[in-house]
Amino acid sequence: MSDYLVQFNNISKFFGKVIALKDVTMRLKKGEIMCLLGDNGAGKSTLIKTLAGVHKPDEGEIIFEDNKIVFDSPKDALDIGIGTVYQDLALVPLMSVTRNFFMGREPQKGIPFLKTFDVEKANKIAADRMGQIGIDVRDPSQAVGTMSGGERQCLAISRAIYFGAKVLVLDEPTSALGVHQASMVLKYIVKAASEGLAVILITHNVHHAYPVGNSFTVLNRGKSMGTFQKKDISREKLLSMMAGGEELDKLEVELQEMDRIHNKN
Ligand SMILES: Nc1ncnc2c1ncn2[C@@H]1O[C@H](COP(=O)(O)OP(=O)(O)O)[C@@H](O)[C@H]1O
Ligand SMILES: [Mg+2]
Repeated sequence: MSDYLVQFNNISKFFGKVIALKDVTMRLKKGEIMCLLGDNGAGKSTLIKTLAGVHKPDEGEIIFEDNKIVFDSPKDALDIGIGTVYQDLALVPLMSVTRNFFMGREPQKGIPFLKTFDVEKANKIAADRMGQIGIDVRDPSQAVGTMSGGERQCLAISRAIYFGAKVLVLDEPTSALGVHQASMVLKYIVKAASEGLAVILITHNVHHAYPVGNSFTVLNRGKSMGTFQKKDISREKLLSMMAGGEELDKLEVELQEMDRIHNKN
């Protein structure tokens, strides 16, 4: 048995002439939060879609619990315990909290062939699960659209965990949130990892990633700049790698120049 729950080994993905990923290797362990960092277009979404069974890699292999896996569909990935929460969350705002939690997988009651959706049980599970993360859903039949952005994100994560995720893949879970809401979501992610989940947290916000991540993989134009343990890398170094260092250094100089001019006046 290797130490790793999931391994991406030398993954490449091409869309026609576009090289979305080239020779990317990334590995993670149980209980680990790995942050996948990179600017827009770096290949982050493409990478996690290969793990979620949406795209087939053109090169390389994915190893899950020591077995090489090939997914024919996103359902295959879900079935082995890879839970992905996409940027749009796949929630239906006008449907209830409970309906969104179960999405067609509601508990049933009754005798065979006359089964009905067990509303009370479903409501209780949804409210309990949200309560465990400190979100008080007094009325689980309320529309999801009435929840805050952070609460909705937590609901989508909670749903993935409830349905058996071992690896939780989160695509920019904090990008649309303010500081308070983002910290609520980040705290929940840390809690989930402490209970043994492996988390891939995708973000272009180093300030959100750094406090919660154990390791960091930086993508730049489809290539991995490497994976770093937190003790081996600073927040500033990560920032500069993401943006392709030089540009940021230039920006820094320009900002200092502006400051200088400003202070003179
Ligand atoms: N389905 C697709 N067809 C063609 N090109 C794509 C497709 N998906 C992504 N790309 C291209 O692959 C590159 C990486 O995109 P993406 O993985 O979405 O980056 P990120 O999530 O880091 O912003 C971009 O150049 C993007 O235009
Ligand atoms: Mg993306």
